[in-house]
Amino acid sequence: MKLEIYIFSNSQQLADTLAEDFRRTLQRKAETGESFFVALSGGSSPRKFFERFAVSPYREEIPWGNIHFFWGDERCVPPDDAESNFKMANEAFLSHVAIPDKNTHRIMGENPPQSEARRYEKEIQDHVPVSKNGLPQFDWIFLGMGKDGHTASLFPGAPTLHEKEAVCVIAEHPDTGQTRISLTLPVINNAKRISFLVTGDEKATIVREILQKRPSYLNYPAAKVKPFNGVLEWYLDNSAAKDL
Ligand code: 6PG
Repeated sequence: MKLEIYIFSNSQQLADTLAEDFRRTLQRKAETGESFFVALSGGSSPRKFFERFAVSPYREEIPWGNIHFFWGDERCVPPDDAESNFKMANEAFLSHVAIPDKNTHRIMGENPPQSEARRYEKEIQDHVPVSKNGLPQFDWIFLGMGKDGHTASLFPGAPTLHEKEAVCVIAEHPDTGQTRISLTLPVINNAKRISFLVTGDEKATIVREILQKRPSYLNYPAAKVKPFNGVLEWYLDNSAAKDL
């Protein structure tokens, strides 16, 4: 596993740099004619990053027809609910760019969780290429990290952290009880490139504990993200990195 840590003076500079990297990466990939499979993170941290895609030059220059967007997790709510990760991404950029509808593979939070987890798992299996280990292999997965060190909807101490077979699982937020659907660790770790996007000083302590491998750091689900063969990146603003 190759680990890269990038620290930015503020969240806007982080968003600008990551969007530019995304544009360059997708333009190179488009030359091969191959599709590119992305899983987006939820929460609020990626909003500024996503909003870059809705403006020039990104709106025009990113080859949207080559990209398939999935989500790393979703809250089990309708797509127009304020809690919906899809809603945030749709408002930030999806509804502003020329991406074919068939390339947007949202988790249907309005469906019953059990059947939706199976449906979404099949959608991933039907589209995302499988690697030698038999797992779907995303080209790029974006992740956030909660104040308790969770990532996607894999929460500390949850049995879902030990799932080895399924592509996605049903989870429950430990504080709110909200039902979620999340990719599993094996699928996340099978990605070619994984980028954490973490901002704000409330995350700084856990960022340090994970990146400096302090005692019991592996209790944090985010610390269990270790790509089998890919690249792991932490994109941090100065606030989140202040204790490093
Ligand atoms: C979700 C996310 C979750 C998020 C973290 C950080 O659905 O909530 O996928 O893993 O990335 O909770 O959230 P913030 O970016 O809002 O701090």
